[in-house]
Amino acid sequence: MSSETPVVVQMEDICKRFGAVQANNHITISVRQGTIHAIVGENGAGKTTLMNILYGVFPPDSGTVYLYAQPVRFRSPAEALQAGMGMVSQHYALIPRLSVLENLMLSGEGASFSRLPRSQVRARAEELAKVIGLQADWDAPAGSLSVSQQQKVEILKLLLRDARVLIFDEPTAVLPPADAEAFFALLHRFAEEGRTVLLVTHKLQEVLEHADEVTVLRAGEVVATMPVREKPGAPPQVDARTLARLIVGEEGVLPEEEMLPGRRLGDQPRLRVEGLIVPPVRSRAGLKGVSFEVYPGEVFGIAGVDGSGQAELIDALMGLTSPTQGHIWLDGEDITHAPPAARLHKGVRYIAEDRHLRGAIVEWSVAENAALGLQREGRFGSRFSLSFTRMKEFAERIIHRFAVRAPAADAPFAALSGGNQQKVVVGRALMETPALLIAGQPTRGLDAASTRAVHHAIREACGQGACALVVSFDLDELLTLCDRVGVLFDGRMVDVVEGERKRREEIGALMVGAVKGGGA
Ligand SMILES: Nc1ncnc2c1ncn2[C@@H]1O[C@H](COP(=O)(O)OP(=O)(O)OP(=O)(O)O)[C@@H](O)[C@H]1O
Ligand SMILES: [Mg+2]
Repeated sequence: MSSETPVVVQMEDICKRFGAVQANNHITISVRQGTIHAIVGENGAGKTTLMNILYGVFPPDSGTVYLYAQPVRFRSPAEALQAGMGMVSQHYALIPRLSVLENLMLSGEGASFSRLPRSQVRARAEELAKVIGLQADWDAPAGSLSVSQQQKVEILKLLLRDARVLIFDEPTAVLPPADAEAFFALLHRFAEEGRTVLLVTHKLQEVLEHADEVTVLRAGEVVATMPVREKPGAPPQVDARTLARLIVGEEGVLPEEEMLPGRRLGDQPRLRVEGLIVPPVRSRAGLKGVSFEVYPGEVFGIAGVDGSGQAELIDALMGLTSPTQGHIWLDGEDITHAPPAARLHKGVRYIAEDRHLRGAIVEWSVAENAALGLQREGRFGSRFSLSFTRMKEFAERIIHRFAVRAPAADAPFAALSGGNQQKVVVGRALMETPALLIAGQPTRGLDAASTRAVHHAIREACGQGACALVVSFDLDELLTLCDRVGVLFDGRMVDVVEGERKRREEIGALMVGAVKGGGA
């Protein structure tokens, strides 16, 4: 990009404070037309705050936003939309009871396509959906979609609007790699068309592969802003180490994460799943006879392309769905049809892939969320009078152990940055050694240090006798964290790899059904 390329978005000297937290501290950033501008920084660095200001979610305390060199002061996202901007937020805003199509129609409020007949919106949506690899059932309630499908619907909402400036806040945090690739191909196309993209991400590889420029935030301030490449398609001029160093400061850089060796702590499986069948519903594969065991001390990974049965497996293990055939044993006891509360009581803990729908109640405090689901255990007082002090103490322990950036344990959960919310959800599941940890995308939206901390916490729990089941789209995560990896394909566990066979290529091939089959 030459310096003549017009600046589309200019944010100048932006400050925003929440109570004692200076979320944005004199931030200045310029984004040129037709570029992909990445914004990186630790959890709580101020990325989402800055994007919210740009999109008119709330005003800055001071500073000015310019769009095409004109000062603008959006009083709401609706006004930003009118001005040709669009944003996919870190937390989704789909209305769960409405169908996918209805959600799309609704999102067009004020945009040109909202006046189009339903059939036309649908045709256009179908066309775009193909590009981003969304096989949507347009009439399914949005709440029935997996998190990655919801993410794609959110992206679709934005695409339908035909925006000139597109803001994405961690769009690929829960996208399977193949979908992320398709998404980036689309971003490049947009950039070529002269649209401007702001991309918040924790994945430095994405910055190196796709961004034209990058701005690094640390503790609310810009510590660097620089070109990533000379022109689109050219090789990157910066490397991951340099970025990592800028993100955390010189002292904070971590060495490469090592494979954490696990050890079976007994020869009786803690979790045994046998011949599990869950009928397919809509776009879900269901489970077609899944069997495996997880031993104490062991982390068992689940790989698979989106919709291969991961959600059904988690639901069945948590007691959120009833299998039509097969069995689940925990420590030798048949829990196939036990209600969720009984499983919690037996030490089953859950990190939900969708922290907002299932993992937390954002209107509540951090302390109440820390205690969520555990209140029946009696540790926070009786069912009828919960001790807020005890919940607060528990939350404070989580905050301390997982370095959660929260103003206080009684602060609203919604006041935490996305990654810090995730740390609370993870902490709740791991503060006491569970019998079985079920983790869906446990490091979603976490920065490098927090990802590391969560991996260690899972390992530590297993070292104390827990067993863990980790579902992740991130193969590197599965390879580093898990002792064995089961691969789901179309509702079947086609293979379980360990030792020498636990390699990226092997798992990748199994995921698309290229080898073996039948298996367990
Ligand atoms: N509504 C709010 N009320 C109080 N504090 C807030 C609010 N929104 C954000 N903050 C605080 O501002 C700081 C920056 O948060 P922000 O969400 O911008 O971080 P982020 O860089 O997007 O982090 P993440 O990578 O975890 O999403 C955090 O300390 C957060 O707790
Ligand atoms: Mg954020």
